[in-house]
Amino acid sequence: MKERKKIIIDTDCGSDDAMAIAMALNDERYEVIMITTVSGNVRLKQATANTLTTLKVNNSYYPPVYEGCNDMLVRDWVGAAETHGNDGMGDLDLVDYSLKPQEGHAVLKMLEALRDAPADTIDVIALGPLTNLALAIKLEPETMKKVDKIVIMGTAGLGIGNVSPVAEFNIWQDPEACKIVLDSGIDPVYFVGWDACLGDAMLNAREIEEIRNGSEIGKFCIDSNIVLMDMNRDRFGENCLDMADPAAMAAALYPECIDKCEKYFCQVETNSGLSYGGVLVDFYHFSGKQENAYICSKLKADMYKDYIFRNLKVR
Ligand code: RIB
Ligand code: CA
Repeated sequence: MKERKKIIIDTDCGSDDAMAIAMALNDERYEVIMITTVSGNVRLKQATANTLTTLKVNNSYYPPVYEGCNDMLVRDWVGAAETHGNDGMGDLDLVDYSLKPQEGHAVLKMLEALRDAPADTIDVIALGPLTNLALAIKLEPETMKKVDKIVIMGTAGLGIGNVSPVAEFNIWQDPEACKIVLDSGIDPVYFVGWDACLGDAMLNAREIEEIRNGSEIGKFCIDSNIVLMDMNRDRFGENCLDMADPAAMAAALYPECIDKCEKYFCQVETNSGLSYGGVLVDFYHFSGKQENAYICSKLKADMYKDYIFRNLKVR
């Protein structure tokens, strides 16, 4: 049996994070060695409770969950209640608050795991603001360079922003953290853009029903996205789900489903103003600067969705 690839998931566990976490836990080629939590969609304690609840409902194995940063590096926390609900999971009383995380700070536990492991044996997959990763880089830059790769749900990819004309939520919530990641020299760093989960990658009404009716974890993952689904029904006139974190998780664990992914020089805007938190992608290499990150802007929708169905135990 081929040894399972080790991964660390860093999450601000809202409802789309929950689906991505379940997909990772159910892909037997990978071992989630820990889950670290951070404020983002919701505050840290809620993100932790949502993560622990997802592990309980998925009921496969239970990686240690460690709490990380409650505050962003510089700017105030904002959250995304309008998209995920106040509890991040649709405000349906799905969350079990009796579950507790392990002792130890997420940043220190992430560094410990990477320090003690051979280089290039652990991937880090970030589904929320990059605050934990940025602090880990600041504390022990050479330890963080031992990561095999970092895959981030973040940036608008080659498209438009979802919280401003140019910014995607995870980066916009802590742009200074993203700058630390981009300037770290860690290679490769992949950003799966917001655009990768749009268009034909959106889950349609039939697919949503199939997932909801296909397994207990599938029902949990759909129900917890009720706020987003209601918002989309108003916006698009039908049930559909743009699942950003599942897109990033699929790109990370099943790269065969990637359609477009190229390396560019990328720069995050940390000056205040309308472009704050936007990530500039030097598509035509005008800057002449060394490319520092991959931008995954499109997935092969059928393969991506099949990966979701399989790893939510629907098919
Ligand atoms: O912009 C989408 C991202 O912001 C997703 O990770 C979602 O969970 C929120 O964190
Ligand atoms: Ca997230």
